[in-house]
Amino acid sequence: MFINFWYVAGLASEITDQPLKRRMLGLDFVLFRDSEGRARCLSNTCIHRGGSLAGGKVRGDCVQCPYHGWEFDGDGNCRRIPSLGPNPTIPARARVDAYPTEERYGLVFAFLGDLPAAERPPILEIPDHEYGPDGPRDGWAATIQHFEWAFDYKRSMENGIDPAHNEYVHPTHGFSGEQDDYQMPSPTLEDTDWGTGFWSERLAPPLAEKKMREASGREEDAVIRAGTGHFGPCSIWTYIHPTPDIQIHQYLFETPVDESNTRLYLVNLRNFLTDTKDDERVMGRNEVVALQDRDVLVEIQPVQTPDSNNHEFFVGADTPIARYREYLKDWEGRGWRIDSARVERDRKRVAYAIPSQARREQKGWVLDAVPLRPGAAATQAGKAARA
Ligand code: FES
Ligand SMILES: [Fe+2]
Repeated sequence: MFINFWYVAGLASEITDQPLKRRMLGLDFVLFRDSEGRARCLSNTCIHRGGSLAGGKVRGDCVQCPYHGWEFDGDGNCRRIPSLGPNPTIPARARVDAYPTEERYGLVFAFLGDLPAAERPPILEIPDHEYGPDGPRDGWAATIQHFEWAFDYKRSMENGIDPAHNEYVHPTHGFSGEQDDYQMPSPTLEDTDWGTGFWSERLAPPLAEKKMREASGREEDAVIRAGTGHFGPCSIWTYIHPTPDIQIHQYLFETPVDESNTRLYLVNLRNFLTDTKDDERVMGRNEVVALQDRDVLVEIQPVQTPDSNNHEFFVGADTPIARYREYLKDWEGRGWRIDSARVERDRKRVAYAIPSQARREQKGWVLDAVPLRPGAAATQAGKAARA
């Protein structure tokens, strides 16, 4: 799991003036709205003596710890320590990490890391002609679904960009190997700063759902065009064009709960059957497909992707997965990968926090920053020191 990316913390609608506890990247956070309705995200561990802030309540712009009533504002600063009496000086060290949030597509994203704004990897963007500031544009309809399942997000990401699984996992997209001339050659990858992707054409049966099939105007098997790719460690775009005019664009944001549990938020844009009364039909279809993937993913061994590809057997169609792992290595080299084994080992003795940007300017934090795997610079320095 990686710091320094944006993660979906929750649906905009579930973040209210009641504090909400959310585990992300193996650590706990509290989410709430301040008096101006802004979504706020703080490390959930009270720095006094470890209370769970999410168990308390929101008072004005602050969340109040349920244990001794200390109050923390949306920037993480302690504003009130009741036991000190009226108008005390609050020590500067009395603060928790606070994380920037951004509300888009009906979701609240939190930036979990310490990079300053100008250096942060962006959120996977839905093009403005599909989804504007006020919702889907004319001619498009959007749905949001979310799931929480027991698999490693990397396994799920690799599944999302795997061109060869459709034939077997999704009877709606392939022929379960019954086509004698089926093959899936290495796709031609197109790399961007934050991920790889590709387009491919494949033979697919007509859409299974009757009304969607009618809307697509295609009753026969046909070659369809589809593109997919990852963006950062945890987001995927998938464009499916069952006919040149009919487009389904999916944006999947995965939030690792920990190394073996993942929450998935699927924003589905479509340019047909755009009446909201068809939302359920589309969501039902997406859920069937997502469950087909889940059933395979929860059984994969080992649960987490192995450290070396030599412990799996890659063929041409697996090149997007190999490339995804190269991107992860790059981000690990930057020192962004959490040392989850150590976090787990220490769990009962140490409450860690994801370092926020404020740690770059202010010293003296009560909680230790989460341990990170050594980046490339550290590895190089270590090698040089040993030489
Ligand atoms: S533990 Fe939070 S106020 Fe004491
Ligand atoms: Fe799939």
